[in-house]
Amino acid sequence: MDRPVVYADLSLSRGRGPESSSPPSLPQDVCQGPPWHQLALKLGCAGIILLVLSVIGLSVLVISLTQTSPIEKSSVDVQENRNYTTETPVPLQCSIHWSQLQDKCIFFSGSSNTWKDSLADCSQRESSLLLIQDLEELRHIHDLIKTEGILYWFGLNFTLSEKNWKWINGSFLDHDILQIFGENKENSCAAISKTKVFSSNCDSENKWICEKKLKPVRNKVCPNS
Ligand SMILES: *[C@@H]1O[C@H](CO)[C@@H](O)[C@H](O)[C@H]1NC(C)=O
Ligand SMILES: *[C@@H]1O[C@H](CO)[C@@H](O)[C@H](O)[C@H]1NC(C)=O
Ligand SMILES: *[C@@H]1O[C@H](CO)[C@@H](O)[C@H](O)[C@H]1NC(C)=O
Repeated sequence: MDRPVVYADLSLSRGRGPESSSPPSLPQDVCQGPPWHQLALKLGCAGIILLVLSVIGLSVLVISLTQTSPIEKSSVDVQENRNYTTETPVPLQCSIHWSQLQDKCIFFSGSSNTWKDSLADCSQRESSLLLIQDLEELRHIHDLIKTEGILYWFGLNFTLSEKNWKWINGSFLDHDILQIFGENKENSCAAISKTKVFSSNCDSENKWICEKKLKPVRNKVCPNS
């Protein structure tokens, strides 16, 4: 007698459970408990994802901005450099066999000649015998002469009528710039060695030094400008 009742109760309870009470109750349980957490989790996750995305987006923006500006600057620099190189005159150069000394090009002869013929040789090279401007240039010339004991004519000779040393440009020698070893006499011309300046007979044969002004090479390349 008890068993069927129990069975019926069980069946009823089972029947009622899933049919009426349990379907609403189960979703309610799911909605009331976990849904809060899930919603919070979802919102939180969404917020974090949004934050991360926005941070990434911002950093990408910043990186791309900071990267493009140097590139633009460097490209501008390159353009300016191109402009710069095309606009500036070609650097001043001495031609081959001539060495640069400040604003002049100087030539050391290989052969020897009299003072007059040396003067003529320099003018053939569209230059003149060396004029020594000051003590600094004198020192440079001494330094450029490699071998001791070799004499080089330059643009200074003794004029008997005026009893003085005279540069070929017509100026008299300033004796503070250089001292001349040897006699001041007729037919004397000045010659420079590695260490000193000597008075030498103008008809003797020495090497010689020519000079000419340093000119822009551009003038030869572009006759229009
Ligand atoms: C220098 O660059 C500018 C553009 O940046 C150009 O218009 C101009 O022609 C350039 N000048 C020369 C001499 O190349
Ligand atoms: C001639 O040359 C000498 C030596 O370089 C120099 O001191 C003098 O000023 C020059 N004179 C002229 C008129 O150029
Ligand atoms: C000295 O040089 C002058 C040119 O400056 C020249 O006329 C003169 O003949 C020279 N003197 C000698 C002895 O070579």
